Amino acid sequence: MTTSSTPTDLRAGTAADVVAGLTLEQKADLVVGATFWTTAAVDEAGIPAIMVTDGPHGLRKQAGAADHLGLENSVPATCFPPAVALGSSFDTELAERVGAAIGLEARAEDVSVVLGPGMNIKRSPLCGRNFEYFSEDPLVSGELAAAVTRGIQSRGVGASLKHFAANNQEHDRMRTSSDIDPRPLREIYLRGFERAVKATQPWTIMSSYNKINGTYASQDPWLLTEVLRDQWGFEGLVVSDWFGVADRPAALRAGLDLEMPTNGGVSQERVLSAVGAGELAEDTLNACAARVVELVQKSLRGAETEVEAWDPEVHHGLAREAAARSAVLLKNDDALLPLNPRNSVAVIGEFARTPRYQGAGSSQISPTRVDDALTALTEASSGEVRFSPGFRLEGVEETAGAQDAELRAEAVQAARDADVAVIFLGLPAAAESEGFDREHIDLPAEQLALVDAVLEANPRTVVVLSHGGVVALPFAEEVPAILEGWLLGQAGGSATADLLYGTANPSGRLTETIPVRLADSPAYLDFPGEHGHVRYGEGIFVGYRWYDARQLEVAFPFGHGLSYTSFAHSALQVSSDDAGLHLQVTVTNTGDRPGREIVQAYVGRPGSAVARAPRELKAFAAVALDAGESHTVELTVAREDLAHWDVRLDDWVVEGGEHVVAVGASSRDLRQETTVEVSGDEVAVPLSTESTLGDALTHPVTGPLIHDSLQQAVQVGEDDVFSAEGLLRMLESFPLGRISGFAGAGLDREKVAQLIAMTQQG
Ligand code: BGC
Repeated sequence: MTTSSTPTDLRAGTAADVVAGLTLEQKADLVVGATFWTTAAVDEAGIPAIMVTDGPHGLRKQAGAADHLGLENSVPATCFPPAVALGSSFDTELAERVGAAIGLEARAEDVSVVLGPGMNIKRSPLCGRNFEYFSEDPLVSGELAAAVTRGIQSRGVGASLKHFAANNQEHDRMRTSSDIDPRPLREIYLRGFERAVKATQPWTIMSSYNKINGTYASQDPWLLTEVLRDQWGFEGLVVSDWFGVADRPAALRAGLDLEMPTNGGVSQERVLSAVGAGELAEDTLNACAARVVELVQKSLRGAETEVEAWDPEVHHGLAREAAARSAVLLKNDDALLPLNPRNSVAVIGEFARTPRYQGAGSSQISPTRVDDALTALTEASSGEVRFSPGFRLEGVEETAGAQDAELRAEAVQAARDADVAVIFLGLPAAAESEGFDREHIDLPAEQLALVDAVLEANPRTVVVLSHGGVVALPFAEEVPAILEGWLLGQAGGSATADLLYGTANPSGRLTETIPVRLADSPAYLDFPGEHGHVRYGEGIFVGYRWYDARQLEVAFPFGHGLSYTSFAHSALQVSSDDAGLHLQVTVTNTGDRPGREIVQAYVGRPGSAVARAPRELKAFAAVALDAGESHTVELTVAREDLAHWDVRLDDWVVEGGEHVVAVGASSRDLRQETTVEVSGDEVAVPLSTESTLGDALTHPVTGPLIHDSLQQAVQVGEDDVFSAEGLLRMLESFPLGRISGFAGAGLDREKVAQLIAMTQQG
């Protein structure tokens, strides 16, 4: 064993220099965790161990026993709204502040990397871990994840985008192969990651458990090196998900720098023998070890960033503000909300006093405190508040009809006696978690029975929901007011009271569609797959892209959310240049109280040459306006965001032509619409004998040439091929290799060969 000079200050040298002075054994140690949550120290080289830990909506630092399933306790930390809720704020400034607060708590606990944000796409409502993810849309996921990452990293702490990639279910999660075509893979599942990586250079990214098209993400050189580093320019470290590496040398070759957690030396031995046997180049190991050293260097430098001590009260206040901006007011007939504080209220439902505010699994943290809605409502009201649990959270399997009926009767009586009833419904904690998927999207039957009974007793009924994965709302037509709370974090109870009494004005919007029925959802027939494979048969049609393309009725559309005030949109203007689209729209608060509008811009390309959703969200902004105030909002859609993935070129392409730009308050409440001409990228795909006449006609090199010779050669009576109705359409599908046999086309073999050759040069 040889060690060369020991750098006195690790921050000073380059990581490559540091690694050059290490032994093979030390390098093998560095690329595997030393404990459940720490990297290996190499004392001789002055490399300290650093701690990485969950994430994503608060810090889960385990001081005692360690696990990755949320079984053991962690030190108290602020539980901010999980991504399902925070995403609904559509508010990147807020998300960045939340990230910064988590970063601050991490600094106080000597944690170098927070394992989050989670940013997988919600492909199916059934994914047990949807509460940890932002959206069914890659723009929303990418923007929110970037904001949280910026916040965390502003504190000198690293973030870890996870789970890279296409980890959209929990069933069979450590083995299953997500079988995805190139377009959805790029346009839906990788696009948000691409956005966040390019925008923030996260210190780390976490590979997912699953395979993609047959290769483990943790061992996929295409994913971890070609796409992530070469194409997107990622400069950070790739860490595995916990126990997510099947073959350590293969993972190193793919570009997975750090395997977590320790596996008792098994991986180190495998690495050493692979280097010995020539299966693993030492240079490859050096590169990965250097990235671990770079991460340690970043962490040492980060520890020098000046930060203030964190104040649990201040962070609780931020958690409350975030929760209030995250809940979505789905419905509010006859302005039933906000409540009048002088009125009497029947508060019904166990969740009002036993809140569900975060999901189960590795993200489950120990909050500094928890606000329940019952206490907060009682404090906010000057009228009588009467509580009635309405249903049990435990033991509902043995639904003892008599006990449920008794609870229901008591709740009905409370509702009847009060001016208004507020029912807190939701999913019990055991219904959804990391590690398994749901089988349905229904609320428990006794809760649905309770709504019906209460509504009959008092039509002035408000429903407040707490759950992580989307649920069907069979009562949506009848119940006049519904507040979708998702999981709102530790201050969700007080934030709910703020919203119900109007001290906060709702501004959250749905980042996922609420379907009428599970059977309408895009992945319904292809979830969760079988025999280790799940086929993403819906392709690019995920979320609202699917419901819109299929013209399906939904319960509440993507982007929907009401306010206690109202907004008007006017004067939309759009221009297009090399940088992309520039939009201007005037938003006016037409109501009588301050509020926030989430302006959403959707773009479509009718008549596209490729399959497309009718519209895709391409930009959004949160705007705060006083009553009566107007503001001109400017939005930019970067040119690359207009591109689709061209499978022939294996690259992004902007299709030219008329694009429809619509701005509004949801994907199905578009208030202003206009069209804009976009210049397309020149697409010059090399032709072959298998290319069609249509391909050759639209090719920039051969098109003009063929056009002329065809026009001369193909004549039908008075018409040529371009004017004779239907003729061109019949000929377009002719492969070039076979058209030479069709003398009437005037394209003999030699000419075809020449044309093909012209497209293959350069
Ligand atoms: C999860 C990760 C988490 C890790 C460490 C895994 O089970 O998939 O998201 O960061 O455990 O707890």
